[in-house]
Amino acid sequence: MKQASMILDRDYKIARVDERLFGSFIEHLGRAVYGGIYEPGHPLADELGFRTDVMEAVKKLGVPLVRYPGGNFVSGFRWEDSVGPAEQRPKRLDLAWFTTETNEVGLHEFARWAEKAGSEIMYAVNLGTRGPEQARDIVEYANHPGNSRLSDQRIANGRKEPFGIKLWCLGNEMDGPWQMGQKTAYEYGRVANEAAKMMKWVDPSIELVACGSSSSEMPSFGDWELTMLNECYENIDYVSLHRYYSNPTGDTAGFLARTMDMDDFIRSVAAICDAVKGKKHSKKQVNLSFDEWNVWYHSREQDEEIWKQDKWNRALPLLEDIYNFEDALLVGSMLITLLRNADRVKVACLAQLVNVIAPIMTRNGGGCWAQTIYYPFMHASKYGRGTALRVIVDSPVYDCRDYEGVPTLDAMAVQGDDGSLTVFCVNRDLKEDCLLTLDLRSFGVLRMSEHLVLHHDDVHAVNTEDRPDEVVPVQIPVTQVDGGRAEIRLSPLSWNVLRFC
Ligand code: AHR
Repeated sequence: MKQASMILDRDYKIARVDERLFGSFIEHLGRAVYGGIYEPGHPLADELGFRTDVMEAVKKLGVPLVRYPGGNFVSGFRWEDSVGPAEQRPKRLDLAWFTTETNEVGLHEFARWAEKAGSEIMYAVNLGTRGPEQARDIVEYANHPGNSRLSDQRIANGRKEPFGIKLWCLGNEMDGPWQMGQKTAYEYGRVANEAAKMMKWVDPSIELVACGSSSSEMPSFGDWELTMLNECYENIDYVSLHRYYSNPTGDTAGFLARTMDMDDFIRSVAAICDAVKGKKHSKKQVNLSFDEWNVWYHSREQDEEIWKQDKWNRALPLLEDIYNFEDALLVGSMLITLLRNADRVKVACLAQLVNVIAPIMTRNGGGCWAQTIYYPFMHASKYGRGTALRVIVDSPVYDCRDYEGVPTLDAMAVQGDDGSLTVFCVNRDLKEDCLLTLDLRSFGVLRMSEHLVLHHDDVHAVNTEDRPDEVVPVQIPVTQVDGGRAEIRLSPLSWNVLRFC
């Protein structure tokens, strides 16, 4: 058995965890909206056509923020198409995903869904095919109280009170050649700056996220951030980071080490923000919005087939990754990484929420079930609110193809406002248990109240509609805390939530 130790002290604080770290994402893509959250005619649909079984699953997950309506979709989207009488809204070809967007669900409908789910909207504007004028228009439509053409239009469309959307994305992945209206870093920085100024002139209370590179693997990563921030630093509040990981070769140890890359990515973007701050002699700190993160690769070939056979249809079943047990472990580790960087990452969105690379799956006309990745997210969202604590971990390490010295124990702790303490950890070891010695020296009298474990002997195990409980967390017996110390056994390849109160 491997051994690891961890020192926790209530005074070793990283930062308060912004609850928007547990955000998610719904794009007009595949069956995320149509056949996902919205399916009028389904036996469990409510009076608005929203599936109540999906709503329940979303509520259990606890998602305080949902990014909407894209993604790549947004770079060709005309927001005006999505308001007004639903039967008069246009059908448009969506060039991001080669489908037809019917606009049956638009801003008003989605806002009602989000209100029911207890989520705020993070709204992305189109800076691909459109520009600052349309961006300021949607802010006026959504947030201005009234007595202007666009706010009065909102009121006439049935919504007297402003939507009050606080967080806005200035476009999406504008460095990518796949994006409608791709831009150079300088072009984007200029447009983002002008859009930001005008949007904030309409509503000074909003916060804005500028597009960082669409991945740390883009050749332009780094230079993109530096150049575009040079143009818009003073008018934006966050820089976006996007990252998806995959395991095409079945190398579990290497796959689980990918959060080393995520950590580096976060630190690099924070350093670039601070370099621009220094260069500009600015007093303002720009923070990070990790507004797309997940595992994504299982569905790529399937999507190519769908497009060969069925281009331009509505609600094509795209990006329907079926997540296995090892994916849940990496998602757990990604959550640990976000918490570890809670001093700079203030917003994060698991991409996405329903059917499209998602923790929640549905069948049209049928059931709704939780994928493996649902559980670490649910645990982190439920128990990861409060103050992130710096943990001092001494763990065995391993080497893999891309990294040396990967700790077998990946861990993080959060102190809740009620005084409770939660330790999240992944034992990355493929074969051996890990005996973790916890030193809780400064916490006074604490008892262990819960030990939740997600483990399966087969890394490829998945949940399906017929077998929804193949990979689910279980409670195991807790250990005594003796003189501020506890010894806890962690199974090989396991996600663990250790709760103390
Ligand atoms: O989340 C799926 C897609 O991934 C998004 O539309 C895009 O922003 C990213 O490339």
